Amino acid sequence: MDSQQTMAETPQSVPKLAVRGVSKIYRDGARQLPALDPIDLTIASGEFVTLIGPSGCGKSTLFNIIAGVDEASTGSIAIDGRSDGTRAGQCGYMLQQPLLLPWRTVEENVMLGLDVRHVPRQKAQQEAQELLKRFGLAEFAQNYPTTLSGGMRQRVALLRTVLFNSSFLLLDEPFGALDALTRFSLQMWLLELWQTLQASVLFITHDVREAILLSDRVYVLSARPAHVLRVINIDLPRPRKQEHLALPTSLQLEQELLQVLMKEQHV
Ligand SMILES: Nc1ncnc2c1ncn2[C@@H]1O[C@H](COP(=O)(O)OP(=O)(O)OP(=O)(O)O)[C@@H](O)[C@H]1O
Ligand SMILES: [Mg+2]
Repeated sequence: MDSQQTMAETPQSVPKLAVRGVSKIYRDGARQLPALDPIDLTIASGEFVTLIGPSGCGKSTLFNIIAGVDEASTGSIAIDGRSDGTRAGQCGYMLQQPLLLPWRTVEENVMLGLDVRHVPRQKAQQEAQELLKRFGLAEFAQNYPTTLSGGMRQRVALLRTVLFNSSFLLLDEPFGALDALTRFSLQMWLLELWQTLQASVLFITHDVREAILLSDRVYVLSARPAHVLRVINIDLPRPRKQEHLALPTSLQLEQELLQVLMKEQHV
């Protein structure tokens, strides 16, 4: 058996996500708004891939389509090699503005995805408690969202996403509204979570340094309608550390990313 045959037959060769020629035109009566040009994108199992692109270019639109919340105008999406049937439940989707339900405690918010699937309450509670303990939030389990800091709320929203699906996460700018220090501690926490769970992640950010710190690969998108301008590999050691951002490779990547993005910014 030659090596090509072996590759084709191993489960690892099936990408976690394969987006092929996906485009989107929003229609409102006679008006049409092209939001995505045909996009190709692949995530291998266990990869951390980031999308970066100008505001309004179509990033959240692509996430909605991947999550099965919205329909593509053209193209196909395969998760674990399957493109048939519904995609609902095949990924954990953390929305750009995640909503924690104020009348539910942290634990009950984290359980939400399991409640929706009618998992017995005791089992759901047990799973939520384990996750909260494993990722350092056990002492806040009985708090209500209004009593938490912004950073803590994002952690809870992330764990809720993980409990819904821990193998494939779509995270739409989860740290956009946080101050620099809180943001850094959440970035490190997310990397630990990603490695522990061996998850595949598709992440959106506007922050070039965040993209470099977290990712294996970065897709740079154009202004709307988005198409892929560049795919950049981030060849930095793992586990990532803040000081990696000062390495010459990182500074070069930062310049490269900024230059591509600045050309797209119409200000
Ligand atoms: N449901 C919808 N109906 C019509 N137009 C929409 C809809 N959702 C988004 N759009 C439009 O599609 C374009 C892309 O929006 P999208 O939210 O995907 O951008 P984005 O890249 O996520 O932006 P940001 O970085 O600001 O979050 C925008 O012009 C937006 O107004
Ligand atoms: Mg968005």
